[in-house]
Amino acid sequence: MYNEPMLRDDALEGKTIVVTGGGTGLGRAMSTYFLKLGANVVITSRKLEVLQKTAEEMQIETGRKVLAVKCDVRNYDEVTALLEDAIKTFGSVNGLLNNAAGNFISPTERLSANAFSTVIDIVLKGTSNCSLAFGKHWIEQKQPATILNIVTTYAFTGSAYVVPSACAKGGVLALTRSLAAEWGRHGIRSNAIAPGPFPTKGAWDRLLPGELAEKFNFKNRVPLKRVGEYQELANLAAFLISDFSGYINGEVITIDGGEWLQGAGQFNALEAVTPEMWDMLEQMIRKTNTSQI
Ligand code: HXC
Ligand code: NAP
Repeated sequence: MYNEPMLRDDALEGKTIVVTGGGTGLGRAMSTYFLKLGANVVITSRKLEVLQKTAEEMQIETGRKVLAVKCDVRNYDEVTALLEDAIKTFGSVNGLLNNAAGNFISPTERLSANAFSTVIDIVLKGTSNCSLAFGKHWIEQKQPATILNIVTTYAFTGSAYVVPSACAKGGVLALTRSLAAEWGRHGIRSNAIAPGPFPTKGAWDRLLPGELAEKFNFKNRVPLKRVGEYQELANLAAFLISDFSGYINGEVITIDGGEWLQGAGQFNALEAVTPEMWDMLEQMIRKTNTSQI
């Protein structure tokens, strides 16, 4: 059931959406759904061969044209060239999905300065580069538009062992809310999604390599005892980038099955207590109550 498309078929008809990191993983899944809803889609990342193959497969699956553009989001000139390409092909751009990211687990003290800034540059500078270039264009053209940023739940909790990513995603969240306030008057909405675990090759190879995938199974951290389905994320992204969410601005929506709250509540770990243990604990607690009277 949760794997069903949610929006009506023409929900994104007439829209052109640029998706950074659209050639793989979650970016690819969201792009495919945007196409199915009638949008033109531009996918972009550093690896042109990957993008071209994905674009071809998407075109076969959806019957719609996909533009694949090589662009390193860290480079502002490449981002402006991407925007120009998109406009040349489709006439205008209405949506930007900042999804590209770089990340890997490491104790922070093992990182070189370059390793730290590489992640910050892809995630925060990449998102600000794209938002700035596209925003300038939209404001100049007096064109309403939507920015949607993919963050994570540790954008607001922080997380050990992915510190550059946590810093960068926290920055993207601040950017989301700041631009929502500043550019709202231009008709430019800015929102974010904070996904919990949605297994992709890109993320799992770098975050759960080897035996970690088994030992640190994300399913066990989620109250719903499962990971996310790509279509669930695609449904939310399509809604937030569509005009149906026209009054939502500056919001971050978490889609994680309750994962971050599970880690936050001080007594949540008590799910490990069995009914028999509860019988015993209850007796002990009740005894304390009566002995106090
Ligand atoms: C320590 C490392 C390292 C590692 C790279 N470096 N990997 N340091 N441990 N495992 C160091 C390098 O030695 C170098 O520093 C610096 O980082 C840059 O590395 P490059 O390989 O030159 O960078 P680049 O080719 O730009 O690749 C960027 C990357 C790579 C981030 C390192 O992993 C990448 O391309 N990632 C893109 C896709 C991705 O990460 N997807 C997952 C997103 S998942 P020195 O000092 O040696 O020069 C995500 C999910 C969050 O965000 C939440 C999940 C639940
Ligand atoms: P992914 O497949 O590795 O996606 C990352 C994409 O970013 C790749 O397509 C990569 O393509 C692109 N990219 C990296 N550096 C770039 C650069 N400098 N310029 C342009 N593109 C660049 O991983 P994913 O899991 O789908 O992640 C997608 C998004 O979801 C990320 O923002 C991630 O933080 C977020 N997220 C994922 C999860 C999860 O469980 N999977 C959870 C929370 C948040 P190239 O290598 O070709 O450049």
